[in-house]
Formats: sequence, C-alpha cells, structure tokens
Amino acid sequence: MLVSAKEMLDKAVAGHYAVAHINLNNLEWTKAVLEIAQELKAPVILGVSEGANKYMGGYKTVAAMVKTMDESLGITVPVALHLDHGTYEGAKGCIEAGYTSVMFDGSHFDLEENLEKTTEIVKLAHKQGISVEAEVGTIGEDKNGVVGMGEIADPEECKRLADLGIDFLAAGIGNIHGVYPANWQGLNFEALQKIKEKIGDLPLVLHGGTGIPKEMIQKAISLGVAKINVNTECQIAFAKATRAYIEAGKDQQGKGFDPRKLLAPGAQAIKDTVKEKMEMFGCIGKAE
Ligand code: 13P
Repeated sequence: MLVSAKEMLDKAVAGHYAVAHINLNNLEWTKAVLEIAQELKAPVILGVSEGANKYMGGYKTVAAMVKTMDESLGITVPVALHLDHGTYEGAKGCIEAGYTSVMFDGSHFDLEENLEKTTEIVKLAHKQGISVEAEVGTIGEDKNGVVGMGEIADPEECKRLADLGIDFLAAGIGNIHGVYPANWQGLNFEALQKIKEKIGDLPLVLHGGTGIPKEMIQKAISLGVAKINVNTECQIAFAKATRAYIEAGKDQQGKGFDPRKLLAPGAQAIKDTVKEKMEMFGCIGKAE
C-alpha cells in the first residue's frame, strides 16, 4: 500500500539517515526501484515530475500503474508516490489522482504568493492524508548548457514556510539539478546550519542528488537532510548499460531486440545505482 512520506521522513530525521527519492521515467524505472527497495528493506519515495507524468500518460495513469505494481509485486516496504516540482494546478491534479505526496514548488513566486499558494495546497492535501513538500530558494539548473548556480534560501523565509504546517522543505543551499559543473562551489553548510536552527526537526530535502560526494551527503544528513532526490544518475546509468548492449551487437543476436532483453541491462543499472545511493544515505534495513 502506498503511504504518505511524512512518517518515513520524520523517522529518518530521528534516525539520522535520508530516504531516497528516485525519479521515475517509465515502467522499467518503476519496477526496478520498487524491487531494489524491497530487496534492501528500505523505504522509498517515487518522485514524478510534471513532464514525466505527461510522458507516461498523465497523473491518473501513473498513480494507477504505481499502486497496482506495488500490490502485484507484493511490496511491503513503505512507498510514497510524490509529485516532484509541482505547479499549483499539478499539485491539485495529483491530489485528485491518488498521489500520496506532493511538492508544490512556488520558489519562483515572490514570498507572499508562495506562502499563499502553499497554504492552499497544504489544506487540500492534508484533508486526504497526503504529505506536502514546499520550496524556497531556487535549485540551480542546466539550461541548454548554461548552468545556473541556484539561490541560497533565506532562513527566515524557510521558517515562514515551515510554520504553514508543511511536512518537509526543499531549501536551496547551492545544489544543482543534473551533473555538477567543474566550478561548482559545493553545498553551503553554513546556510544549512542556519536553516536547521530556524526550522528544528522539520525534514529537509536535498535536490540534485546526482554526483554529490559521500562526505557532503553525510554532513548534510547530520544537519537535518532526510530526503535526497536522484534522477540524472539513474538516467546516465540506464543509457550507458543500454548503449553497451547495443554496441556489443546483442540486439542482433537471436531475439536480443525484444524490449524485455534490450532494456534489462538498463533496468539492472538503475537498481545498482539506487543501491549505491541507499547505502550512502543510510536507509537500508530501515523498513524492517
Ligand atoms: P538530479 O537529476 O541532479 O539527480 O536531481 C534530481 C532532483 O532533484 C529531482 O527533483
């Protein structure tokens, strides 16, 4: 059964580890992530962006697929289905479609508008036991080769969002979506410490989990990060394994072109990547 992400993240804060949020891109991703989480007895958050939702056929399609697959595979670890970087309309759509967790990303609005819209989403979501992530201070991004370094969240603004009754908070601390550029300055732990002092035990979310070195991840966890988002690293691992299969000519041997064979190395690569992350985040065995 799918669950809200609140309880698993509150437990992670108390236990000083982080739950992996792995972005889904298709059915193979969903199955690979569910199977490895079950094998490692780790709670997991399946994050789906609005773009990925559209690609997979809409919120209802995704919710139905994830719910049914969770049941059919006999998954017993806590699994949350979470909208990643949702718009106001997207968050409402996912609440109606059966998601168990939503992120409303109002970080590009001015603070008052972000607070106002977040309040409305919290009200709608909490009525149905759905957890809510909010964001302040934008996460950096690679836009057509130009890498934006993001914005460091203001601790006072974090506190104001926290006071709305949200369940976890994404606060920019120099993290960037995608592969980190060579001139990246690293995470800003001073900012993280100040945010933590303001918001207490509210779980913090670290976006842009791809390629962050282990020491930084562990320091971030020690300062209250309880959810770490990973997408690009699984995509790169999937593409690399698929390329190796094709370059070895395996798709041309026997029925090697059958998608069940063609996509199998990529699915295994996703599992291996998620396992590596879960080891780093300390969440293995936490669902036992
Ligand atoms: P990466 O693609 O950098 O791993 O970031 C994922 C993310 O933060 C999704 O919200």
